[in-house]
Amino acid sequence: MKIAVFGGAFDPIHLGHIRLARESARRLDLDRIMLIPSSVPPHKLRRDMAAANDRLEMCRIAAGNDPLFMVSDIEIKRGGASFTADTLEELGRLYPDAELYLITGADMFLTLGTWNRFEEIAKRAVLCSVPRDGVGGDRLREYAAVLEKRGARCIILDITETAVSSTEIRRRILAGESLDGLVPPGVEEYINSRGLYRVNGDSSGNGKSVGFAESNKAFIEMIRGRLTPQRFCHSMAVAEQAARLAELYGADPQKAYTAGVLHDIMKDVGAKAQLQILDDFGIILGNAEKALPGCWHAISGAVFIEQILGVNDRDIINAVRYHTTARAGMSLLEETIYLADFTSSDRDYPDVDEMRRLAESDRREAMLYALSYTIRDLVDRGSVIHPDAIHAYNERIADKSKTNIPV
Ligand SMILES: [Fe+2]
Ligand SMILES: [Fe+2]
Repeated sequence: MKIAVFGGAFDPIHLGHIRLARESARRLDLDRIMLIPSSVPPHKLRRDMAAANDRLEMCRIAAGNDPLFMVSDIEIKRGGASFTADTLEELGRLYPDAELYLITGADMFLTLGTWNRFEEIAKRAVLCSVPRDGVGGDRLREYAAVLEKRGARCIILDITETAVSSTEIRRRILAGESLDGLVPPGVEEYINSRGLYRVNGDSSGNGKSVGFAESNKAFIEMIRGRLTPQRFCHSMAVAEQAARLAELYGADPQKAYTAGVLHDIMKDVGAKAQLQILDDFGIILGNAEKALPGCWHAISGAVFIEQILGVNDRDIINAVRYHTTARAGMSLLEETIYLADFTSSDRDYPDVDEMRRLAESDRREAMLYALSYTIRDLVDRGSVIHPDAIHAYNERIADKSKTNIPV
């Protein structure tokens, strides 16, 4: 039996999803498609997000009596951020004789090689994707060849994109427009009967960052799938804090939010995957860097967001790159992320209150304080210190003594 796993937020499920599923089934000769709504995020992203049970129910309605579809609550039951490797493992236990396929959107497919326990995923499922959002079949096939070298079996299906999106559907509901031809029969009635998506996702008390969350949705979904629940919460807290500090410092809050979301994107994939991506893109570590595994996620994170996610804003890339070490000559955005990582709401260390006070009152003092704290801590632990950190510290001390010389 051939079963394809098709996961997503399904908020709500729409005809684009169904069409993709059916077309994939036809071309791959699949027996079943398993729709797996992702669990409720530990950190609610939008006020208007439907509850997990509603998203699950809409999938059930969409599936109807069609024997092609199964709907699974496996990820919702597990709660928190789910790793695809765990889901496939569980399905392997439930359906030991099945041949598993994994259907992923183009953007997700291009990152598969760095997912948690990629080898496990590749071993258990045939990896399938379809062109979307400006990512063409050629680019997908190129990346498929890279994954195949690592033992994966990949199929790129040239199915044309359907111009339906969950975001557009939610907008229409809010505007009182019809959903004709956009959602499967019964789903619109369900949405209406439950009063879903009637709240403006952009207008909560925390309006701005909810708006930022919406415009960074793809990145947030990506980190949700790649990070542990704790780290996911941390990243979201850093994004919020970065946007807040950016306003204070006169940096761009939108960019700061994005950099905050992405800063730890490679943190939970393991040293092997971190080094692999550096190797793939020809990045050679310096001696101090080799001895500092703690900074690999920052260096590989910068490479990942530039090369794989296609982020082309140099300032955002550098903010990720230097968020652990800092460096001399940091931009306002780089400092914002560095300090947001120290002062986000999830942080708890002896000096955190003082650090937060400084971050809000005196950026330069805060940087010096954070650098001194870090360097002292590294010395105490007998660790190597990255030269960038020392240069950052020296630059600030030199600046400070300059301003202290009477003229
Ligand atoms: Fe980090
Ligand atoms: Fe962090």
